[in-house]
Amino acid sequence: MTDTDAPAISWPRLEARLAELARIGDTGDGGCSRLALTDADREGRDLVVSWMRELGLRVDVDGIGNVVGTWPADATEAPVLTGSHIDTVRTGGRYDGNLGVLAGLEAVETIITSGLELARPVAVAFFTGEEGSRFAPDMFGSLVYVGGLPLEEALDTVAVDGAVVGDELERIGYVGPLPCPARPPAAFVELHIEQGPVLEAEGDTIGAVTGVQGISWQEVTVTGQSNHAGTTPMDHRHDPAYVAAALAVFVRELADEAGPPQVATVGRVELHPNLVNVVPARATFTVDLRHTDDDALRAAEEAFAARADALAATEGVTVERRSLARFAPVEFDAGMVDRVERTARARGHSVRRMPSGAGHDAQMLARVCPTAMVFTPSVDGISHNPDEHTLPADLEAGAGVLFDVLVQLATE
Ligand code: GLV
Ligand code: MN
Ligand code: MN
Ligand code: MN
Repeated sequence: MTDTDAPAISWPRLEARLAELARIGDTGDGGCSRLALTDADREGRDLVVSWMRELGLRVDVDGIGNVVGTWPADATEAPVLTGSHIDTVRTGGRYDGNLGVLAGLEAVETIITSGLELARPVAVAFFTGEEGSRFAPDMFGSLVYVGGLPLEEALDTVAVDGAVVGDELERIGYVGPLPCPARPPAAFVELHIEQGPVLEAEGDTIGAVTGVQGISWQEVTVTGQSNHAGTTPMDHRHDPAYVAAALAVFVRELADEAGPPQVATVGRVELHPNLVNVVPARATFTVDLRHTDDDALRAAEEAFAARADALAATEGVTVERRSLARFAPVEFDAGMVDRVERTARARGHSVRRMPSGAGHDAQMLARVCPTAMVFTPSVDGISHNPDEHTLPADLEAGAGVLFDVLVQLATE
């Protein structure tokens, strides 16, 4: 076969599917809002499943609503798996997760239409609730898929809006018979936008992802004494808003002092009763700490806990900390990372080996099979934002690398 005869993905077909999926939950400002297990998520799922069925894939759904489309449909061997997620944060973009699922579908379609002879099946998946915005932890579906969270516990999980995961799965019709944990795939490779500024700044087209940094999410509840804002002298206060604010400043300073790659975020803050002239009764906020080194991450967690306890004592409030997610740093399979790098270079791309700052389903799959990820650049490093953007040429480049890696893994 000459180069011009080599099967190649269709960028127009992938671009059209990305646009069609982005219309579901379209926020009108370029963004997408499809929180996990909402009606918008169901619509998105139904659309992707319809495409899987049109291609003749066998569509399997497991007990936590992960969906896997396998080719050939009668395959029994463990497949080479690709995919990602189609849920978004409330103020999400069009590519986070969606790119990996639809580029995976495009790769499988190209494999089918080109008549490539496979040594093992190929499959494309989308995993339930990767974002963790509606219910925690993040990478929820893939965690259950690999046996990291028992199915029963997962189904009983309560979302921030009070809904129960099992009820929501039933409601949207995505409880399937496939068991969790699943039988491990032969290998997993996920294409994703970088969601950070590195590739663009360095002028590289492809990231060969070496692993994912550790993630610690906590929900902190500060309970004090609600009282009149005008009459309560400052030295009589037990003020949860003050303690929450001081802890938010503390984690920022902690990250600044530690330096990269330590990052720290307070992303959600709620005051109760949230009124102008009332010292609040309660403050609830989240802390997201991440680091590539687990000891350093643990040190940050301990420093935060110590500061929270000290402030609780001086202000006369109680501070409760609840872990929402805690994942150690993950290193991907060295041979798989080399393969991504080699394959991208063979396509003429400039490649950077890099860790991922964001969490991904691949970090869960890495527990059970050789795993790697392909990154494409994010314009201005913006993500979890309607302005999230990647240049079409870069999306196409990433999808091409994904296709080549899948073909290699499925034909060797
Ligand atoms: C999940 O998307 C995360 O990295 O926060
Ligand atoms: Mn994602
Ligand atoms: Mn995300
Ligand atoms: Mn993520």
